[in-house]
Amino acid sequence: MNYLVTGAGGFIGAAIVDRLLCDGHTCTTIDNLSTGTVDHIPQGCRFIEGDVADAHVIDRLAGERFDAIIHMAGQSSGEISFDNPVYDLQTNTQSTLLLLKYARETGCKKVVYASSMSTYGDHIPPVCNEETERIPKSFYAVGKLASENYLRIFSEFGIACTALRFFNVYGPGQNLKNLRQGMASIFLAMAINNRHIHVKGSKDRFRDFVYIDDVVNAVLLSLEREQGYDVFNVCTGVPTTVETVVETIRSAMDYDVTVEYTDSTPGDQFGIYGDNQKIQEVLGWNPTYDFKNGMQKMIDWAVAQTAAET
Ligand SMILES: NC(=O)c1ccc[n+]([C@@H]2O[C@H](COP(=O)([O-])OP(=O)(O)OC[C@H]3O[C@@H](n4cnc5c(N)ncnc54)[C@H](O)[C@@H]3O)[C@@H](O)[C@H]2O)c1
Repeated sequence: MNYLVTGAGGFIGAAIVDRLLCDGHTCTTIDNLSTGTVDHIPQGCRFIEGDVADAHVIDRLAGERFDAIIHMAGQSSGEISFDNPVYDLQTNTQSTLLLLKYARETGCKKVVYASSMSTYGDHIPPVCNEETERIPKSFYAVGKLASENYLRIFSEFGIACTALRFFNVYGPGQNLKNLRQGMASIFLAMAINNRHIHVKGSKDRFRDFVYIDDVVNAVLLSLEREQGYDVFNVCTGVPTTVETVVETIRSAMDYDVTVEYTDSTPGDQFGIYGDNQKIQEVLGWNPTYDFKNGMQKMIDWAVAQTAAET
């Protein structure tokens, strides 16, 4: 099969391309290297450098027909979306619209999109299934929700469209140099580089952490969908507090790591976690890593990675 996977210079896109290439498929990526790097793009993947929100960059695909488009490129932080909401709309939503238009024009029959748990906002009780009301708290989440609706409409043109609402994705390969994106990677990088973790917000906040390999599995299973629009939570169904994340990292280090808690950032959700019954029943997906096992693998990787760089 021939796939377009946007954002393969980044964490999730690279992991997907890696798996697709291993399975013998052909992959092209578009990445503007805003947070990703060329080194991260798996070898064997054709690379077009540019902004996927720019129609001229899409034109460089020259009408090539893909079996599926997997759209992972975008900026992935609610906090950052407050810096420049217009850019956020372009990079996360205009890009989706352009790719859907390209899919329709070229006869591509499947599109998979990286949506987000942030579309839900805060809820009491905090467990969300796909029907839970979406009350976005950040410009980022508004854009993700708009993208979902573009997918829903384009599915009426014969494209099987799947929106995957990723919860907090973590694991080896996450960017340890970007301290504004990814809770697990931010705390881990701080512990390794500074022996000090600065937490912006309450230790009682919680998230649903889903391991990278399980996320890749969800993407591959959604490629099997043949028609219509659907949306799935990609989550473990288990809440993990910020304090648990911090203490898991601290106890894994063989030196003291201090912790400081300060005020939260704009648009931060206090805590939600996902109900994953639908993705289990419809796609046959199950998470294979719990937080303890996944985090240990990530810590081992991060320590080895940092040692290799110094
Ligand atoms: N990591 C998570 O926990 C999480 C949770 C929910 C949703 N998501 C979504 O999953 C997707 C991938 O996230 P990630 O964690 O791999 O982030 P990442 O920053 O590691 O990767 C994103 C990649 O997209 C590229 N990119 C960004 N904007 C682009 C643009 N306009 N044109 C071309 N390339 C562009 C970046 O350079 C980078 O290589 C994002 O859309 C994100 O919003 C991630």
